[in-house]
Amino acid sequence: MGRLEGKVAIVTGAASGIGRASAILFAREGARVVAVDRNADGLAATADAIAKAGGNAEIVAADVSEEDGVNGFVTRALDKFGGLDVLYANAGIIGGPDPLLEQSVELWRHVLDVNLIGPFLAIKYAAPHMIAKGRGSIVLTASAAGLRANAGGAPYSASKAGVISLAQTAANSFLGTGVRVNAICPGLIETGMTHWLFESARARGTAGKIGQLNPLQRAGQPEEIAAMALFLASEESSYVNGQAFAVDGGLSSTLPFTRPIR
Ligand code: NAI
Repeated sequence: MGRLEGKVAIVTGAASGIGRASAILFAREGARVVAVDRNADGLAATADAIAKAGGNAEIVAADVSEEDGVNGFVTRALDKFGGLDVLYANAGIIGGPDPLLEQSVELWRHVLDVNLIGPFLAIKYAAPHMIAKGRGSIVLTASAAGLRANAGGAPYSASKAGVISLAQTAANSFLGTGVRVNAICPGLIETGMTHWLFESARARGTAGKIGQLNPLQRAGQPEEIAAMALFLASEESSYVNGQAFAVDGGLSSTLPFTRPIR
């Protein structure tokens, strides 16, 4: 029996990277998946992969920062699959590389809209159905950037610190309801968001240096985040609530240091 057998799961950002890997894994583990993204072509490719794995998926093209769109994909889950057990609010954007003092208010608002208001809206529309059922698991993708500086720009880091706080505050808002909320803080993962970095390192012949700042000394793959999302989504994590878990090869465990000469 699959680890999500009989469950209905929404996964946002499912057209690419971590969201796609998670949607495929959830479906392989028995969930009926509502895959959400603003990228319709990417969603179709995810749905194909799920169908090839023998899974069941409904795709919804929507912008996670727009309230109507969020209401729409939650309603679709209920209409199509008759309930909702798992929400994985994962969609996100990195924002620009501009120095802090050159960043615009528009950039900040856009990044916060997608990365922080998006998960809030998903919780707002999904959680009531879980509360009515007396159980449910909500998983958010934060980032190592929400724990420390230098893993993205200031608006990105601030948005992800907000996501960590949202996991804590939502978990406590749902006291006594049986609904759990947790966040994942990935380190550097090879996805659509970071593709440029991997490609430029490969072009320079420095691919071996990617991820060298963490003790595993490598970057992660989307499937390694999906594995944590599956654990948090499933009943295996039934007593895990209000937490943010770094899945970063150990990056956030260390202070900067000078490597000893061997
Ligand atoms: P990705 O770019 O491969 O996937 C992100 C997906 O979100 C894309 O399919 C994109 O179309 C979708 N999306 C973006 N804005 C949207 C919107 N407004 N409405 C609907 N869909 C939207 O990137 P990745 O890495 O898989 O990103 C997933 C999450 O992981 C993001 O929240 C990101 O911030 C987070 N993350 C990624 C890390 C990495 O190294 N790749 C590290 C830490 C966190």
